[in-house]
Amino acid sequence: MLIIRSWKNMLRHAASFAATSFACLMMLATCGYGQGLAGRWAAIGKTMDNGEIQKAILELTVSGNDLKGKLTELGFEVEVKGNVTGNHFELFGVGWDDKKPFVVGDLADGELHWRQWGDPMAAKPATSADEFVKPPYLEPPPVHKVPYNGLAKTPPMGWNSWNLFAEKVDDQTVRTMADAMASSGMRDAGYVYLNIDDTWEGVRDAQGNLRPNRKFPDMKALADYVHSKGLKLGIYSSPGPRTCGGYPASYGHEEQDAKTFAAWGIDYLKYDWCSAGIIYKDEKLQPVYQKMGDALQATGKPIIYSLCEYGMGGVEKWGPEVGGNLWRTTGDIRDEWSSMMGNVEKQTPTAPYAGPGHWNDPDMLEIGNGHMTDDEYRTHMSLWALAASPLLAGNDIRTMSAATKAILLNKEVIAIDQDSLGKQAAPLKNGDMETWIKPLADGSVAVGVVNLGAAAARATVNARDLQLVGAIKKARDLWTHKDVEFKGGAFSAMVPSHGVLLLRVSVN
Ligand code: GLA
Repeated sequence: MLIIRSWKNMLRHAASFAATSFACLMMLATCGYGQGLAGRWAAIGKTMDNGEIQKAILELTVSGNDLKGKLTELGFEVEVKGNVTGNHFELFGVGWDDKKPFVVGDLADGELHWRQWGDPMAAKPATSADEFVKPPYLEPPPVHKVPYNGLAKTPPMGWNSWNLFAEKVDDQTVRTMADAMASSGMRDAGYVYLNIDDTWEGVRDAQGNLRPNRKFPDMKALADYVHSKGLKLGIYSSPGPRTCGGYPASYGHEEQDAKTFAAWGIDYLKYDWCSAGIIYKDEKLQPVYQKMGDALQATGKPIIYSLCEYGMGGVEKWGPEVGGNLWRTTGDIRDEWSSMMGNVEKQTPTAPYAGPGHWNDPDMLEIGNGHMTDDEYRTHMSLWALAASPLLAGNDIRTMSAATKAILLNKEVIAIDQDSLGKQAAPLKNGDMETWIKPLADGSVAVGVVNLGAAAARATVNARDLQLVGAIKKARDLWTHKDVEFKGGAFSAMVPSHGVLLLRVSVN
């Protein structure tokens, strides 16, 4: 052990440490620290719930501390960028607006070990045998109009497993959630779709029929159970060969899978682009989605068709043409203020395209998942309602707090979302205040004012901005559940930081 006996010695040691560090730094600069990461790596990950093993190819170039490259997996391919410090590296998806890296790892003994969204991957230098074999290209059909299925006259409402359970969803979770949807009042408030997201898939049998994995022993029995509770069951697939989670998907099996879903009694399909991006260029989005739209119609069973392709290719313009009832407009939501606000604000240009039967979808709700304040969750609920967005709860309905329940079950706010006129509000910014105005079928108007600032502030609603046809007869605060009065043509109230004032203003 090195014992420093005097101040003089200490200074001498400090000087020699500094000199050594400086020499190291010079070495790093000239030798290119992190160069060991450059190259093509073949990784294997966890065993998935259908018994297959997740794998990846990571190609990296290094320039100083910067990394660039491509990550190909069973479920997707993404360009990556990131940085290396010593042996430690972090990667972000190019074009993804994630603040945190999705890959975090280290180089050790010539191997890369990383965690990807928390799951471990281990990689060795790839050989020429390490390749993803692309299935043969299937040309999608010529574009035509898929007739409207008559569903989703108002934005779909329900629950989806992904935000909270991700790959941990199973039969038991869905059954107990169905019980809770009925007993909590969620079902009676309109939340009827119980949607299983990714990771239910098993493998295809000898006839090519997609079977569920061990977490879902009998999908038809599960659908029967969900239906017995007065609810509907949703499922998930991708137009690519694999889902985003790496599970088998519907590429080349569209009609067969649609028939399987219908036979199980499925009422809603979320169809996620994922690995279709490895096969098709973006200009093929419409015909590729149309293929499943046709397949669903051919089953003769009414099935809500939810397109999930993160807003690419102007989907709001052709979504209804492919039989879509809703389409995602953004990347995945996270349970944080900036992500929630970013998603709903980003879809402003799509507002004119929303209407009965076809909705913009800024992604599922995070209300009750614990990383925003109740004020922020009230804003989340208000904005989804003002933007006529699907209300798909993403929390644990079985254990939700009284505050979460009061937010999700606020019937006056749900009525704004479910208004039959189907108009999507867009924001107007004035300093830290953002105002959203939504005309309603009965001639009244919903108006929300969000305080984006860090301190409480006064929000003012001017009657003249609401484009009302007639004098105000009634104005109601939809969070305090009290009538309020416009004086001198205006109403104002204090709004907490990240909170919202939400009014329904009526002329008759
Ligand atoms: C994508 C979707 C998410 C979820 C996951 C499942 O990221 O955008 O909503 O469905 O895939 O793998």
